[in-house]
Amino acid sequence: MKILGIDTSCDDTSIALVEGRKVLANCISSQDATHKEFGGVVPILAKREHEKNFPLVLEKALATAGVQPHDIDAIAVTIGPGLAPSLEIGVTKAVQLAQEWQKPLEPVHHMEGHLWSALAADAHGEGGLDPDTLTFPALGILASGGHTEIVLIHGWGKYEIIGETLDDALGEAYDKVARMLGLGFPGGGKLARLADEGDASAYALPIAMRQSGDYNVSYSGIKTATLRLIREITNTGERTLQDQEMKDVAASFQNAALETLLGKVKKVLVEYPVSHVLLGGGVAANTVLREKLHQTLAPTGAAVAWPYTFSLCQDNAAMIALAAQLHFQHNYHLKLEKLDRRPQWRLDDFSQNVLSSAT
Ligand code: KG4
Ligand code: ZN
Repeated sequence: MKILGIDTSCDDTSIALVEGRKVLANCISSQDATHKEFGGVVPILAKREHEKNFPLVLEKALATAGVQPHDIDAIAVTIGPGLAPSLEIGVTKAVQLAQEWQKPLEPVHHMEGHLWSALAADAHGEGGLDPDTLTFPALGILASGGHTEIVLIHGWGKYEIIGETLDDALGEAYDKVARMLGLGFPGGGKLARLADEGDASAYALPIAMRQSGDYNVSYSGIKTATLRLIREITNTGERTLQDQEMKDVAASFQNAALETLLGKVKKVLVEYPVSHVLLGGGVAANTVLREKLHQTLAPTGAAVAWPYTFSLCQDNAAMIALAAQLHFQHNYHLKLEKLDRRPQWRLDDFSQNVLSSAT
């Protein structure tokens, strides 16, 4: 099947074409320049930009894939979770296109897209985890700017969140610490690059929720401790951080933040031995997270997979079209009375509303 995917859940307008698990086009129009001066995403500006960019991104996606509307078998759209005004544009445009082109419309949960993004392959079918090799239960680790979730995957369409953040998402914590260091917004990627040149043991920052007895994580304590550390080093702003100090603070923060998550993953694997772990979301681009996860899994024998390219880690529509492919292939679809945006929508809520499912 050739599926056109649409994702406008936050501040990127993305349209993709996917055939099976081959990504024929994955076009993403970033709004970073629009939101930068505000230090965060401004929903009403995001909506305006989505509206403006949508036709351009659509044209580019069709041209890149070399596909005409009549070649398309279905349209997939993110209906949630995300920013309501942003989601609204994607859903409205998807409904219009489905009517105009007379195609079935498949609603997709944004986090289900991130969950399966490691299965995506390039246009020639190279890269990505072959779903035929996947065994259930599997474990999903989702870390983005809006979510941090540890998901037990019982089967296609059967997801159970067994751990999640109690406050900030991991990517959000990276962005907030990046702002403290004057790296701009969104600074998570820049902070990670600084950390690569720093000493992670330079400063001791707390690893959170170690004794909580569950699989949840928290980042607000680490964030506050990092702010306190910066104040201490700079004598409450009397001097600026030197280059090496910046790198060491970044590396020490990263170490505490990642160890917090991986400590929980280690515990999960004791209770739920799985053979596959799938990593997804913007923070899945982080090379230290990938290395640490690899080390964490080594003694268990579980294999880890992450998206084969950066654009599949960040918000993108290829993962949405891919999730829809899986819906059709494994025959599970959402039971919806009305197709509408769902800004607050949990992944396990999705599982309770599928019409039929196969393992
Ligand atoms: O999945 P995504 O594009 O958007 C959401 O759905 O939230 O994730 C974006 C998040 C941002 O917080 C960004 O700072 C973070 O992912 N991020 C990173 C890296 N690259 C992007 N965080 C840590 N290390 C990176 N290399
Ligand atoms: Zn996302």
